[in-house]
Amino acid sequence: MTSSNSRETVAALVDALRHDPFYVAITREFNDNEVRRREALARYFEYSMSEGGRIGRLVVWPDPSVGAAIWLLPVEEATAGAMEARKLAFLLEALGSAGLESYRRILDFMKPRASAAVGEEAWYLSIVGVAPRAQGQGIGARLIEPTLAEADRAGVDCYLETFDGRNPRFYERLGFSTVGTHLEPITGAPYSIMRRLPQAHGHRDQEVEAQRHETGTQSE
Ligand SMILES: CC(C)(COP(=O)(O)OP(=O)(O)OC[C@H]1O[C@@H](n2cnc3c(N)ncnc32)[C@H](O)[C@@H]1OP(=O)(O)O)[C@@H](O)C(=O)NCCC(=O)NCCS
Repeated sequence: MTSSNSRETVAALVDALRHDPFYVAITREFNDNEVRRREALARYFEYSMSEGGRIGRLVVWPDPSVGAAIWLLPVEEATAGAMEARKLAFLLEALGSAGLESYRRILDFMKPRASAAVGEEAWYLSIVGVAPRAQGQGIGARLIEPTLAEADRAGVDCYLETFDGRNPRFYERLGFSTVGTHLEPITGAPYSIMRRLPQAHGHRDQEVEAQRHETGTQSE
């Protein structure tokens, strides 16, 4: 894995996420112009990758055109305020006033619900996307696992929010469970908040061992 921020990775994220209700809502200013909508999304993901690299984790697949995972880690309140002001100024420029308005209203709905469901110290899996041609081959899980292992070593919770009904099963396999489901009014779509408690070191080995035991598989 790498953590470099490239145009190819941005394109993979655009292809993976352009139909997601959140990204559709924040690019509504460009509904009648798909080229401009893709450009706006590309700028959004470029910004998010830099942000992840600075104050979280940016995990890029070795072939950067395949995809990436972007995590945000908790920051001091004063830093968070300055970062938010900078981000809102960027969003106004990249998404236009309609997009910024959607973004703010969606976050106003989602943030307090996340805060009620998870602790302040939790690490947030903000974005994960795999280019459509490479989906379903285990890459998404492998993009997420290194940071989960790091969170386990640090003893912290992780969480995420997803609008896609197919995703909870994928995240459950990584140890997340749904702690809330809400209908977000701006997108008009339901989403789930999923949380993962830190797992003791060696947990996965123990799980594999337990499965072997259950199925009677012999260890080598
Ligand atoms: C969700 C995503 C990151 C998973 O990565 P992946 O490499 O395709 O996933 P894996 O091969 O590790 O695991 C496959 C599981 O992912 C889930 N999944 C969700 N969307 C999928 C898709 N479009 N194609 C394949 N699997 C998908 C399924 O649970 C699948 O398991 P199943 O085959 O038993 O249904 C990826 O499919 C993707 O980018 N989807 C579109 C963008 C998105 O939804 N991002 C997450 C927003 S919260």
